[in-house]
Amino acid sequence: MSDNYKTMGERALMHGPLEALFCCIGDPVIGNPTQIMVEDAFEEIGFAGRYLTCTVATGSVKEAIEGIKALGFAGANVTAPHKVEVIQYLDGLTESARLSGAVNCIYREGDKLIGDNTDGKGFHTSIELIKPVEGMKVLVLGAGGAARAIITELALHKAGSITIANRTLEKAQAIVDTLSKEVSTKLDAIKLEDHFAIDKSWDLVVQATSVGLFAPQEGLDLVWEKGERIAADVVFNPIETQFLKAAQKAGATCVDGLGMLVYQGAIAIEKWSQRKTNFATMKEALERAFSL
Ligand code: ATR
Repeated sequence: MSDNYKTMGERALMHGPLEALFCCIGDPVIGNPTQIMVEDAFEEIGFAGRYLTCTVATGSVKEAIEGIKALGFAGANVTAPHKVEVIQYLDGLTESARLSGAVNCIYREGDKLIGDNTDGKGFHTSIELIKPVEGMKVLVLGAGGAARAIITELALHKAGSITIANRTLEKAQAIVDTLSKEVSTKLDAIKLEDHFAIDKSWDLVVQATSVGLFAPQEGLDLVWEKGERIAADVVFNPIETQFLKAAQKAGATCVDGLGMLVYQGAIAIEKWSQRKTNFATMKEALERAFSL
């Protein structure tokens, strides 16, 4: 942390207004690089804000949200396993949070705490930088929390169709059943079998399972047909996953999970600070965090 950032905080303390406070709540939070990325961004945009990383055990989420309110925090991030439970303690939800059934970002509107989901929005941004999502034929592998946030946002941005392939078919079907009532995108569910074939008809293929997250050498058992498409992975550590390596060999334009992480953070920071952030600084902060 440079003198600038420290001096900014000291000036705020002596002359007001006090620094805006933010935190990340989850369990575990060790290894979560968000604080490093957010504080580098705050420093660069000259925003007097402070961000803490807090372990909040299951069973203490209600008290944590009451604490955030009582201490006047200006916002927060929520990570696993609290993204769903936290909803009941908030005063309102954005459409993305309501439809995806999960909150990863909280901001304040007066004395109300509003829950948003910037995971899907961050993902959408990382794709939109390459090609507009509207009308795309999308295949999403996985039907967990990350998949649901992504599917919601792609549907809100008028993807033409989204097929959800999941090991447990019922979970994919449940997303189709809930979201179909709310969006015009055509949704359907299929089972993710071994040797799952990915033909060249897809515009976008999203790896949104947790495979490879804890064991980098592991990847889904996929059979790729050569062709042009975008392939995106939500797993960001390692940056080049087995999925992306195979997709690239099959001719895909690859989008790694780091982009989604940067953009979801940028959307939150811009909401909190009302200032534009610099993606490159945030990406560098993450790379530094992962090299520690
Ligand atoms: P996250 O919040 O990271 O999305 P999650 O909600 O636990 O995590 O979801 C994990 C996803 O990865 C699910 O789609 C899960 O499939 P199931 O619904 O069948 O459990 C998928 N997944 C995890 N391990 C998998 C594996 N070995 N093969 C295929 N899919 C797997």
